[in-house]
Amino acid sequence: MDIVLYPDPILRRKADPLEQIDDEVRAKVAEMFELMHRQKGVGLAAPQGGWSKRVLVYHYPEDGIEDQVLINPTISNLQGQATGEEGCLSFPGIYAQIERADQLDLEAIDLEGRAVRFTARGFPAIILQHEYDHLEGVLFHTRMTIADRLRHKKKLAKLEEEYRRKVHA
Ligand code: NI
Repeated sequence: MDIVLYPDPILRRKADPLEQIDDEVRAKVAEMFELMHRQKGVGLAAPQGGWSKRVLVYHYPEDGIEDQVLINPTISNLQGQATGEEGCLSFPGIYAQIERADQLDLEAIDLEGRAVRFTARGFPAIILQHEYDHLEGVLFHTRMTIADRLRHKKKLAKLEEEYRRKVHA
């Protein structure tokens, strides 16, 4: 599994729910963890690995959150406001302040098919909102301020050009 870069259309697609957890899914999830760590990311959504399913992985050891996988997640009870600098593995070298909720409730299933439900606050809540956006086909540059999008215009255009060259190669 390799990282899919903006503007690959798979990143704009709404990912499909995962219907069942089998060996193929377990292998894909292992590849997602491997890719996230190789790229030194804090989170990764399946579409970023070219797999258009509603699966995300993340970790935040500072809060005691080790590698965690969330399947078919839903987010509710968004509360408060938090703005932090975000990057995205699909947008190398691009960082911007994004406005998010500070707290949320998340429900999902884990790799054993068990229901998971928890409240996330602060940075983990920001990671989860960013990765959940990927499952909806929403990319973080669309949440930037107009000023930040202008500031990153050249870098975005360069990624678009590299994609065009790759596709037509
Ligand atoms: Ni991202």
